[in-house]
Amino acid sequence: MHLIGLRGMSREKMVGLLDAAEKFLDPQGKVTTPSEDRALLKGKTLALLFMEPSTRTRVSFEIAVQRLGGEVVTVSAEGSSVKKGESAADTCRTLASMGVDGFVVRHHDRQLPHVLVDRLKVPIINAGNGSGEHPTQGLLDALTLRRHFQTGEDLSGLKVAIMGDIVHSRVARSDAHAFSTLGAEVTLVGPRMLLPSDDRTEDWPATITNSRKDALRWADAVVVLRIQQERIHGNLIDAHEYAMNWGIDTSVVNGYMTPDTMILHPGPVIRGVELSDPVVDSDRSLILNQVTNGVALRQAVLKSYFN
Ligand code: CP
Repeated sequence: MHLIGLRGMSREKMVGLLDAAEKFLDPQGKVTTPSEDRALLKGKTLALLFMEPSTRTRVSFEIAVQRLGGEVVTVSAEGSSVKKGESAADTCRTLASMGVDGFVVRHHDRQLPHVLVDRLKVPIINAGNGSGEHPTQGLLDALTLRRHFQTGEDLSGLKVAIMGDIVHSRVARSDAHAFSTLGAEVTLVGPRMLLPSDDRTEDWPATITNSRKDALRWADAVVVLRIQQERIHGNLIDAHEYAMNWGIDTSVVNGYMTPDTMILHPGPVIRGVELSDPVVDSDRSLILNQVTNGVALRQAVLKSYFN
C-alpha cells in the first residue's frame, strides 16, 4: 500500500515495477499511456506535498497522475499554512479530511513518511525524506540501467559505482538497495568525509573506496551525485576543490573510463562541479533518459499502489 523505501523490497517486487514501467514506454523509449490505463485514477485526487525544492520528481508525478486520469493538488511550504507553523503531518490530515486519496511526500524529516503511514489510511509514496530514501529515483535508475545495458530481468553482472556525497544522499541509499537487490555489484566512491564508515552493511549494501581512478576503471556505469550542501552542517565543501579532485571532465573520462562506461545523475546537475559541460551533454550521459524513464516508472508506481 505504501512506498517508503527500497531497503527490504524483494527482487520480485522491483522487477514487477520495472516491467510495469516498460509498458509505459514505446519502442523509441518515449513515454506512452496505453488506452486501457488512461482512466486508472479516474475519480481519485492525489496530493503532492513537497516541502523541499523539486523539479523532476514533482513534475513527473504530476504528469503521471494526469496521464492516468487522476486529479492532482500540489502543496509546497511557500503559500501553505506550514509557513504559519502547521506541521506537515497535520497538513496531510487536513487534506485527507478533504477527501484526498493518497500522498506523494517530500520533506527533510526522515520520520515523516512513517508518521503518515501510522496516522492516515491512504497510500503514502515517499518522494525523498531528508537523507533517508528516494525509492522512485532508485527504481527509475535501475530501469535506466536495465534498458541501456539490456541485462535481462534484473541487473546481474553489472558493476555500478555511486560517486560523490554518499552520506547525505537519499538517492545513493535507494540506488544501492535497488542495484544490489537486482544483482549488480555496487561500490560507493567519494571523499572519505562523504562516505559511510562501514561497507556491506544492511544500510549500505556496497563496497566502499576513495579512489576515483579505481572506481571509474572498474565500473560499467557511474551514478554521479551533487554535493548536498543543504544537509552539511559545519564546514561546507569547496566546489572548486571538489571539481578538481572529484569532478568528471573529458580528461577524466579519457583517462579512466572505457568507451562503453555510462554516466547517470539524478539531477539537478551543478555543471562544472561534479560534471563538466561536455560530459553532461555527451553520448555517454543517460541523464535525460533517467528523466523520461521517471515518468514511466511513476506511472507504474501509481498503478501499483493506488489501484
Ligand atoms: N532527482 C530528483 O529528486 O530531482 P528533483 O529534486 O528535481 O526532484
